[in-house]
Amino acid sequence: MGASFATHHVLFLVWFLPAAFSLSFFFFKAESISNVSCNEKDNQALVTLKRGLTDHGHVLSSWSDHKDCCIWDGVICDKKIGRVFELHLNYSGLGGEISGSLLQLEHLNYLDLSGNDFNSWEPFKPSLSVFWHNSDLYVDNLRWMSGLSAIQHLDLSDADLHREVDWLQIMSKFPSLSDLYLSYCQLDSLNPSLGFVNFTSLGFLDLAENHFNHEIPNWFSNLSTSLIELDLYNNSLKGNIPPSIFNLEKLELLDLGLYSLNGPIPSSVGNLSRMRLLYLEQNQLNGTIPESLGLLSKLEMLYVGENSLTGTVDEGHFRKLSKLKNLYMSEARISGKAPMWFWNWTSNITFINLSNNHIECNVSDIFLSSTVKVLDIANNSFYGPISTFLCQKKIRKNELEVLDASNNLLSGELSHCWKYWQSLIHLNLGSNNLVGRIPYSMGALVNLQALRLQNNSVYGDIPSSLKKCSNMRLIDMGDNHLSIIPLWIGEMTNLTVLRLRSSEFKGYIPQQICQLSSLRVLDLANNSLSGSIPNCLKNISAMTLPNSNVISFMYLNIYAENVRLVPKGNEMEYQENLKLVRLIDLSSNNLSGSIPAEISNLSKLRFLNLSRNHLMGKIPEKIGSMKELESVDLSRNHLSGKIPPSMSNLTFLSLLDLSYNNLSGTIPSSTQLQSFDALRYIGNPQLCGDPLPKSCTIEEQSLNKSPIGSVEDDSKNSSFYIGMGVGFAIGFWAICGALFFNRTWRHAYFRFADEIKDWIYVTTMIKMNHWKS
Ligand SMILES: *[C@@H]1O[C@H](CO)[C@@H](O)[C@H](O)[C@H]1NC(C)=O
Ligand SMILES: *[C@@H]1O[C@H](CO)[C@@H](O)[C@H](O)[C@H]1NC(C)=O
Ligand SMILES: *[C@@H]1O[C@H](CO)[C@@H](O)[C@H](O)[C@H]1NC(C)=O
Ligand SMILES: *[C@@H]1O[C@H](CO)[C@@H](O)[C@H](O)[C@H]1NC(C)=O
Ligand SMILES: *[C@@H]1O[C@H](CO)[C@@H](O)[C@H](O)[C@H]1NC(C)=O
Ligand SMILES: *[C@@H]1O[C@H](CO)[C@@H](O)[C@H](O)[C@H]1NC(C)=O
Ligand SMILES: *[C@@H]1O[C@H](CO)[C@@H](O)[C@H](O)[C@H]1NC(C)=O
Ligand SMILES: *[C@@H]1O[C@H](CO)[C@@H](O)[C@H](O)[C@H]1NC(C)=O
Ligand SMILES: *[C@@H]1O[C@H](CO)[C@@H](O)[C@H](O)[C@H]1NC(C)=O
Ligand SMILES: *[C@@H]1O[C@H](CO)[C@@H](O)[C@H](O)[C@H]1NC(C)=O
Ligand SMILES: *[C@@H]1O[C@H](CO)[C@@H](O)[C@H](O)[C@H]1NC(C)=O
Ligand SMILES: *[C@@H]1O[C@H](CO)[C@@H](O)[C@H](O)[C@H]1NC(C)=O
Repeated sequence: MGASFATHHVLFLVWFLPAAFSLSFFFFKAESISNVSCNEKDNQALVTLKRGLTDHGHVLSSWSDHKDCCIWDGVICDKKIGRVFELHLNYSGLGGEISGSLLQLEHLNYLDLSGNDFNSWEPFKPSLSVFWHNSDLYVDNLRWMSGLSAIQHLDLSDADLHREVDWLQIMSKFPSLSDLYLSYCQLDSLNPSLGFVNFTSLGFLDLAENHFNHEIPNWFSNLSTSLIELDLYNNSLKGNIPPSIFNLEKLELLDLGLYSLNGPIPSSVGNLSRMRLLYLEQNQLNGTIPESLGLLSKLEMLYVGENSLTGTVDEGHFRKLSKLKNLYMSEARISGKAPMWFWNWTSNITFINLSNNHIECNVSDIFLSSTVKVLDIANNSFYGPISTFLCQKKIRKNELEVLDASNNLLSGELSHCWKYWQSLIHLNLGSNNLVGRIPYSMGALVNLQALRLQNNSVYGDIPSSLKKCSNMRLIDMGDNHLSIIPLWIGEMTNLTVLRLRSSEFKGYIPQQICQLSSLRVLDLANNSLSGSIPNCLKNISAMTLPNSNVISFMYLNIYAENVRLVPKGNEMEYQENLKLVRLIDLSSNNLSGSIPAEISNLSKLRFLNLSRNHLMGKIPEKIGSMKELESVDLSRNHLSGKIPPSMSNLTFLSLLDLSYNNLSGTIPSSTQLQSFDALRYIGNPQLCGDPLPKSCTIEEQSLNKSPIGSVEDDSKNSSFYIGMGVGFAIGFWAICGALFFNRTWRHAYFRFADEIKDWIYVTTMIKMNHWKS
């Protein structure tokens, strides 16, 4: 056994253990390259191994006594000495038992047993359950593993090891172990059962997502000469951050996020001279941010948000942080003016998120270098004419893709400088004080996927130049003073969300809207639209076909949708992914005619609000075939006839309002229909039956008394009004965004995509009270 090989030894062992603890092995065919024939002992060990395995796919057929094992499939030898070096047993459908004969492969350094398709190899289940879940045998089996003295890389992530109290001791017996991945292993304790830990060359330790609920043990500081990455994300660790953890001088990644850690950030944090990625977010850390943080000159990503840190952050904190690529300070309680040095300092930064603070800043002072791709300053007090920002010469070379300046104090007209902003993919200027017309020049934004101008005082036509923005997925121009819905809207075939509510739109709903086959949200409520509901709505295939046309949004793969339903003061809120929402809200317009029968073809529609119009005729007979409907509001129209019996088939219905129409006859019986309050049916004098107090058999008698209100008290009944609006809480999430916000992704990312680390957006998140200028 040559010591020279030890340094190359790698054991890559991935267990996939679903709830049933089943596992099977799959085979990877690797070409063997061999000149010296296989060592007899290794040959024998493999033959014994094969005997324990079931091999329905005959992938081990080349494993024969009579041949040189170095040319067997999946076996790689060191060709100089004829010893088995690597075994690639992933992906080919093996079952059975792994015998201890593997132990005899003294030179084995790479063992890949990863695979899938767990159900088809039943015979293997029992032995594996024993292997990992009977603690006696478990220790035996780990002893077997430690026989493979050369393990460097061990990945047991997702294996259930909660019964193993000695895991630390066992793992630290592998003398060459440098990478240990034990995330999601349900481990309970980081305290060594024998009182000491003796990892000698551990560099990467991933213990994220376990169940440690004690203080951070001090043995980590014994790893100061070797440890490079320590990931303890989302355990339940308590107490203070031991200052000694910052003496791990080689540390480049430390993740102590999502805990109950309290007390200050020790100033010894400045000792981490190699630190690149530091996560301390979502704890209860208090005190001030130590100035020594500014010494971390290699820092690329800093998360300290969602703590109780106070004090000021000034230039000193940032002085040496020249490698920082992302600045994430959202919800940091920053107030006051942004100092000039700040914008200069951001000159190398890609991603700036200052949203949800109290920053006062004249937009003309913002400086953006061409590195900045994302600028999120939403929910602050940025002020000044938007044109001074858009037209300033010093930022004409920008390559900004996301600009979210919503909820600020921006004023003036939208400028004509859009030609300098052609990289924009998402633009949100909502909830400012913008006035004037939407300029024709906005059509220059050909990459635009989302345009949000809601809640301003913009007026006039939507310029036809916008149809050049053919990638558009989302238009939100609600709460303005616009005029008509343009016919060319039908050319924006990728449009997924069209929100034009409360914006003084007049005229008809154009038939062209039916060409928007990807449309999932059509919200035209609270305008002055007249005419009838287009009977072609059934052509909107996103509302008729299951999961069709889910067009991905760049920077918008998470789209939180709040559909607010306000029945009599009780507020329900649906927060849903765009993929699930399918909504038509045409309420509070002047629509007339009947509800087109074709509407019942929208079998995937979940929310339908046609209330407060002048609709007449019957409720479509086949409404019951819109089986996904959760909410139907047809109240305050002039609908007549019977409630279609098919309505009793709407099993998901959680909200129904048919009040104040001219419906008659019996309310069909079903679990749903009778569960709604009688108020949902009132104002239809000829309607009877449960839940109305008016029984159908004595119809005549109660006609005059009209026991529960009459049509006249319409105005007083505003509390019954079901407001169904679409509230937009849109996050601009890049693929990269998901990486740093969604930690599960991030972990996957670090585990499997190391080589693309460079383009991860680096993020800073600092919580503080005041911004010292
Ligand atoms: C050893 O194997 C390699 C690869 O198969 C081959 O190129 C080489 O010629 C062989 N050497 C001898 C001495 O057989
Ligand atoms: C098996 O593992 C090897 C690397 O060890 C990899 O290249 C191969 O893609 C894997 N096979 C499958 C089917 O994933
Ligand atoms: C850490 O190292 C010190 C000195 O080398 C040793 O006394 C102590 O037991 C070690 N701690 C643990 C938990 O292994
Ligand atoms: C720690 O490991 C080293 C190297 O493997 C070994 O020499 C030493 O005896 C071990 N110490 C203890 C206390 O087990
Ligand atoms: C953190 O861990 C808890 C308990 O294991 C789990 O329920 C939760 O989803 C995790 N949170 C995150 C953000 O990963
Ligand atoms: C670590 O930081 C502390 C406090 O800032 C300091 O006193 C100590 O000298 C530093 N240690 C090293 C090794 O730099
Ligand atoms: C931090 O919180 C602890 C309690 O968790 C408290 O005793 C301490 O005074 C706080 N320190 C500061 C600086 O607020
Ligand atoms: C930007 O990066 C360059 C090169 O890495 C560096 O020299 C410069 O100091 C950085 N600028 C700032 C403001 O950190
Ligand atoms: C910001 O940078 C510009 C040009 O690089 C320079 O003229 C200006 O003095 C800097 N401002 C501050 C406050 O550092
Ligand atoms: C719609 O989106 C797809 C996928 O992003 C794109 O290929 C297509 O060109 C878009 N349609 C139009 C009309 O731009
Ligand atoms: C309800 O649905 C079932 C099955 O889809 C159908 O057979 C039945 O006719 C429907 N009932 C009504 C009243 O439409
Ligand atoms: C900025 O941070 C907030 C959370 O504080 C988040 O909702 C928003 O999506 C982020 N902006 C971008 C562009 O990622």
